[in-house]
Amino acid sequence: CDLSSLNTLGLVSSAPACVTLRSRDELPALAGLARSRDAGLLVLGGGSNLVLPPRVRGLVARMALRGIRLLAEDDESRVVEAAAGENWHDFVTYCVGQGWGGLENLALIPGTVGAAPVQNIGAYGVELRDRFAGLTAYDLLRDAWTEMDAAQCAFAYRDSIFKREPGRWVIAAVRLRLPRRWAPVLDYPDLRRHEGLAGSPTPRDVYEAVCAIRRAKLPDPAVLGNAGSFFKNPVVPAAQYEQLHARFPGLVAYPQEDGGYKLAAGWLIDQCGWKGRRMGPVGVHERQALVLVNHGGAQAGDVLALAQAVRRDVRERYGLELEIEPVVVPGIDP
Ligand code: EPU
Repeated sequence: CDLSSLNTLGLVSSAPACVTLRSRDELPALAGLARSRDAGLLVLGGGSNLVLPPRVRGLVARMALRGIRLLAEDDESRVVEAAAGENWHDFVTYCVGQGWGGLENLALIPGTVGAAPVQNIGAYGVELRDRFAGLTAYDLLRDAWTEMDAAQCAFAYRDSIFKREPGRWVIAAVRLRLPRRWAPVLDYPDLRRHEGLAGSPTPRDVYEAVCAIRRAKLPDPAVLGNAGSFFKNPVVPAAQYEQLHARFPGLVAYPQEDGGYKLAAGWLIDQCGWKGRRMGPVGVHERQALVLVNHGGAQAGDVLALAQAVRRDVRERYGLELEIEPVVVPGIDP
């Protein structure tokens, strides 16, 4: 089956077999099928954080589990569960519509609920782990259902156990704990500057602001293929930050709780002159240098070659190794 329209980078890709997963009950049999073919199972959510190869090796399952429900509510918080196939932004919109604050900073992130824990999605000062209450997954290694808490998911900045052991679990549902005594998170500079958030903003006000900021900066994958930030922002020890800052006073950095600094990779790439540049069918976005885009017809090799060229320039100029953020799916050698 053709996967070109099922990944937001729009990379040319296909797989020998695809199924659509509509019920949890189908998972054990699907796991058995993947095993009998001696190939992995690639679960596709929104396809928004993937670099797909021209030929995927394993069986592809399109995640279509649906449903949102309020599981528990007390004075402190409510716990809401959403099935893995729900669209993340629609889920955030639903919560805001109910008057439930807590997820509004994560509005407009492409992809599904089930993909959100994989890279511990984050934006504008909030990460999924800050609201995480647990998830239900099928463990393909043990052939059993499992419940996982935050510690088991091993969340870190744009990272989790699901990235470190790819292909082991199929996430079926995610639970979020939303605070009843909501307070806006407005630490991020873009939000602090945003008009319309003065006074006492509501979750909806923050939601609208986040949507406006993202629309102004980030390309819509329906218009221009992309997978959001293609690199992680590197985190460096304070001493290294001081050295870099002395040489490059414009360096954009955010202090971390552990004393280190997270550097804006977009700024580093931009300073290397990459913003808006093209290389074959791919390029660096003209408004946000952290985003690589497909101008049409690209394959994984094109985007990975561009990523290497960008990494080389940042390494030569700043001595920093940029890490690729999306999951690069291995394929069959041509
Ligand atoms: N900057 C430049 N040039 C650029 C891009 C950015 O100078 O081309 C500067 C900006 O002016 C700003 C700083 O770099 O001072 C940071 O830029 P921005 O606020 O756009 O955020 P980011 O660090 O580039 C991260 C996340 C985004 C998230 C935003 C907001 C990562 C890898 N990316 O981007 O997440 O939306 O912060 O929280 O952490 C994603 O993961 O796909 C994603 C879009």
